Amino acid sequence: MPHLEIQPISGALGAEISGIDLSKDISNETFNAIHQAFLDHQVIFFRDQKITHEQHKAFGRRFGSLNIHPYVKGMDGHPEIMPVIKEPTDRLNFGGGWHTDMSFLEEPALGSILYARDVPAFGGDTLWANQYLAYETLSDGMKDMLGQLKAVHTAKGEYSERGASAQKRSSMDVQTAGDDAPSYEHPVVRTHPETGRKALYVNPAFTEKFVGMTRRESLPLLKFLFDHCTQEGFTCRLRWTADAIAFWDNRCVQHFALNDYQGHRRHMERVTINGDKPF
Ligand code: SIN
Repeated sequence: MPHLEIQPISGALGAEISGIDLSKDISNETFNAIHQAFLDHQVIFFRDQKITHEQHKAFGRRFGSLNIHPYVKGMDGHPEIMPVIKEPTDRLNFGGGWHTDMSFLEEPALGSILYARDVPAFGGDTLWANQYLAYETLSDGMKDMLGQLKAVHTAKGEYSERGASAQKRSSMDVQTAGDDAPSYEHPVVRTHPETGRKALYVNPAFTEKFVGMTRRESLPLLKFLFDHCTQEGFTCRLRWTADAIAFWDNRCVQHFALNDYQGHRRHMERVTINGDKPF
């Protein structure tokens, strides 16, 4: 078994793993060590990985079946790989707000594996926020109340004609979600199916309102939670280098792609692993 070095990058979450070449076959023992690091640190990073599209998908399949995004077209010949590309002439990036991938599905994503093909000379970092910490730092009274609530998640806002995710980008083919896009109810506090830990599960991109309340009634508490769950002390940040990989657990983190590299190109490729219905 290769000797894996696992180095945390912040006090809140995130660890860089070295001593592994993901283009090679991974033994069950090594897979188990990576899987444990993923559960322990919520987002893990690998640098200097030269992987093919097939190897990217094969790594994802070790964790579950792969998602085909309902609105963003995958790569030709690889529908499970979503290009996340900002050309120098594009103004808007993809994922430039705090969100949890695919929480608008009935069974939202388990994890996302983002591979950097081409990165700007500066900027374009990604941030993640630990949603276990977001839950654990609430008062007992707030925990009790939120523990009884469900929230409605939908792609209707983000992927509507005016939504940030659906805006035209030179090298991404994104469809808009119609008014009939489905909504799903998820618990506001979810229990991680593997660790058993509780995490806050609302995000500004896809959480519309609390079940049984109007949007207007929901917004004050939602806004408090959105601010609370992305505060600096719960985050880590990756300075990307070409061929780096980030693999995050959507069941207990949110993430944010910074858009501070206007006029430069950033080319990433994302494989998303299907998850379970939150409980
Ligand atoms: C995403 O939201 O999946 C994109 C993240 C990034 O480009 O850093």
